[in-house]
Amino acid sequence: MLTLRGRGPRRGKALSNLGIIKNGALLVRKGLIAAAGTRSEIESLLESRNAEAIDLGGRVVLPGFVDSHTHLIHAASRAEEYELKIAGASYEEIARKGGGILSSVKKLRATTSEALRKRALGALREFGAYGTTTLEAKSGYGLDVASELKILGLHRELNREQPLEIISTFLGAHVVPAEYRGKAGGAAAYVRLLTETLIPEVSRAGLAEFCDVFCDHGAFTREQSKIILNAGKTNGLAPRVHAEQLTHSGATQLGVQLGAASCDHLEQINKTDIRALSKSNTVATLLPGCDFHLGLAKYAPARALIDAGAIVALATDYNPGTSPTLSMPMILSLACSQLRMSPAETIAAATINGAYALRREKRVGSLEVGKQADLAVFDVDDYREISYYFGVNTCWMTMKKGQIIYQKESQKARSAVARTVEIPYDEEEKGSRTSVR
Ligand code: NIG
Ligand code: FE
Repeated sequence: MLTLRGRGPRRGKALSNLGIIKNGALLVRKGLIAAAGTRSEIESLLESRNAEAIDLGGRVVLPGFVDSHTHLIHAASRAEEYELKIAGASYEEIARKGGGILSSVKKLRATTSEALRKRALGALREFGAYGTTTLEAKSGYGLDVASELKILGLHRELNREQPLEIISTFLGAHVVPAEYRGKAGGAAAYVRLLTETLIPEVSRAGLAEFCDVFCDHGAFTREQSKIILNAGKTNGLAPRVHAEQLTHSGATQLGVQLGAASCDHLEQINKTDIRALSKSNTVATLLPGCDFHLGLAKYAPARALIDAGAIVALATDYNPGTSPTLSMPMILSLACSQLRMSPAETIAAATINGAYALRREKRVGSLEVGKQADLAVFDVDDYREISYYFGVNTCWMTMKKGQIIYQKESQKARSAVARTVEIPYDEEEKGSRTSVR
């Protein structure tokens, strides 16, 4: 059992400290961890006598993944662009021709809430099947008042109707939408729409916790990003930022100055940025799925960040343009082979440090008394095999707040657990939805 116990976020050498307990066990009460220790310690507790026992058969148990960067709500894939990219077109070239984010915006605006909800529900089921129990979700494919509020409203609804916890981020500043382009002052007018109308409205309705900006060439400048993030702060939305993904924009320095929860991507960061991050509490969230999918050679300098003492997290960046995956285990594999992170480091970056990036470290991200019983069970002998088997899902069971939300199909027949515990998703497939308590 990898507990990831300890104080504060993991930096430097501490990133590979997993707090392993051999023959571990947990006592769960009302969805929270009431005790954690060795199996004999837990079994000797008085309260354990009346508890339902779930034997995980010696498999590897860890805190459920905390995926701190996703663009959950989108209408469709961009497989057509994928082919263009393989043939040599760059992400920016495609975007300039009206593809890219703007193409996803067009698709989303033409899609009903119900269709978006269905697609997201399917994705959330998959996130759970790969061991994720908490995820962040960004708006940003609506880019007008009604569509952005529609996406954020869906985050709220989805939180009620399925077991994974969704933390909502407002990303109205993804790019300048088509209707504001091609005229003088268009971008400035859109920034005013964000700061004067949308951000106050999102805050009033309590629809997001964070405000994000895509600060890059072709999106928003450092100056515009500062205005938008400050408006978010004034309205109680904590900043986070898409920083130094395609070009060096200065977004990392800005994020650190504003006390951002995280700076994400960081492929193009320099030594000064690394130093700034390492001296701050801003999490450096790395998204190697983007570079893999786009076929880019330059990954973020994870080793330099870790060695300098920055708080490094890993996330999928699940989105149709740069990272169409919801598999945290695949991200861990990429982090090992491309970012040269050790298997242990990838697990800490995907659990406790992800929780820290979402300011949820007191509730999730480690298996400790008082925290939610959110866990992922992997059908492996050694935790290093989670990233070692790439593109293969070795997740065997996922639990959210003490409820089993996923169990591997082929194992059901021989498992005593499946017979005694409700699996809400399967019920839903049969047409009678059960909510998780
Ligand atoms: O995180 N960089 C900006 N946003 C996304 C890509 C969005 C898209 O291409 O649809 C990202 O990579
Ligand atoms: Fe992103």
